[in-house]
Amino acid sequence: MAEKVSVLIPEEKVSARIRELAAEISEEYKGRHIHMICVLKGGVYFMTELSKHVTESCSLDFMAISSYGDGTVSSGKIRIKKDLDESIEGKDVLVVEDIIDSGRTLSYLMKDLAKRGPASLKLCTLLDKPERRECEVKVDYVGFTIPDAFVVGYGLDYQQKYRNLPYIGVVEL
Ligand code: IMP
Ligand code: MG
Repeated sequence: MAEKVSVLIPEEKVSARIRELAAEISEEYKGRHIHMICVLKGGVYFMTELSKHVTESCSLDFMAISSYGDGTVSSGKIRIKKDLDESIEGKDVLVVEDIIDSGRTLSYLMKDLAKRGPASLKLCTLLDKPERRECEVKVDYVGFTIPDAFVVGYGLDYQQKYRNLPYIGVVEL
């Protein structure tokens, strides 16, 4: 059954904000190599777009973590489904995520990555839902702070659908 999806953040606004973030990141990392880590699958659209507009030298790696089943509520269990291909020791690491909701996934992931000896470790998220926070996470770059609603598009899914929407939408269930 098809759900109704309404536009929360239009495509032009998402693109413009990502370019702003890329400029801010390029300025702060000036002259350094940025090793970006994308959290699959949700972070893919954001990381590719962000990295295209970063002017500093950059490399990419991917990680997959599961915390949600197919519903809209976190199962609370976190598991690394796919680990990084390369070591992050001594690297300036920037984790790129689609959304921070309860914060469980990222608080677990950032602690895990910190133990691997990166030169620096920062977090960039396209969306942040601070009202829903249960675990504290230090977020360095935020695209948009949004209210408590289940959103899709730009990598975010509902039951694996809608990742390919070029805007951020709200699912009316
Ligand atoms: P957290 O551990 O509760 O912060 O959840 C993080 C993950 O849950 C995100 O990376 C998303 O994959 C998923 N998620 C949280 N909120 C939403 C939403 O509104 N739409 C789609 N996925 C979401
Ligand atoms: Mg995610």
